[in-house]
Amino acid sequence: TSEPVSKNIVWHEGVSQKQREELVGQKGVTIWFTGLSASGKSTLACALELELLQKGKRAFRLDGDNVRFGLNKDLGFSPKDREENIRRVGEVAKLVASSCTTTLTAFISPYLADRAIARKIHDESNIPFLEVFVDAPLAEVEKRDPKGLYAKARAGVIKEFTGISAPYEAPEKPELHIKTAEVDIETGVKIIVDYLEKNSFI
Ligand code: PPS
Repeated sequence: TSEPVSKNIVWHEGVSQKQREELVGQKGVTIWFTGLSASGKSTLACALELELLQKGKRAFRLDGDNVRFGLNKDLGFSPKDREENIRRVGEVAKLVASSCTTTLTAFISPYLADRAIARKIHDESNIPFLEVFVDAPLAEVEKRDPKGLYAKARAGVIKEFTGISAPYEAPEKPELHIKTAEVDIETGVKIIVDYLEKNSFI
């Protein structure tokens, strides 16, 4: 990722990630959900967060709509703003995951290049990054349309709407691929929890 603007800054080493994880008793990992609006990202991430917390694990969710009320209230939906949205969320997710928390992000994150940046931010700090493609056909999410946004996008009221008037670039090699028109939430959560356990992330 790009160099900082500031010059006279010095990186501080403190407690190492390994030591922190040993002392806390949990690893840090980011689970990055990506998919169309209404594909089920937030629903899956919420259900997974609850399941992990109930298992006594540290889990925390960052969600598209919510982050745009605060940290990213200055950003819209142009390709440039989406890039900055995902970059900032990538940085925040890395920090939260570094605190030995299973960090769940639910953002459309439609561009391959932007998700690659989020992954790189994690790779550079040795924090595992798992991409989960929350996959539902456009016809299906348009039928769901829980917020009425697809109808507005079709009518031209909302510009640059993902899937209608802005692109969605599907992941090429996601760690997990969940088809929400075919599996229910409980099964989706189980697939992810099984993956986390099998790979010793929790
Ligand atoms: S992105 O592309 O990752 O920066 O988007 P994200 O931060 O996840 O925000 C997506 C939510 O914003 C609402 N919304 C739009 N989505 C896509 N395109 C346009 N133009 C748009 N305008 C508003 C919408 O409610 C998305 O919520 P989800 O949870 O994905 O349905």
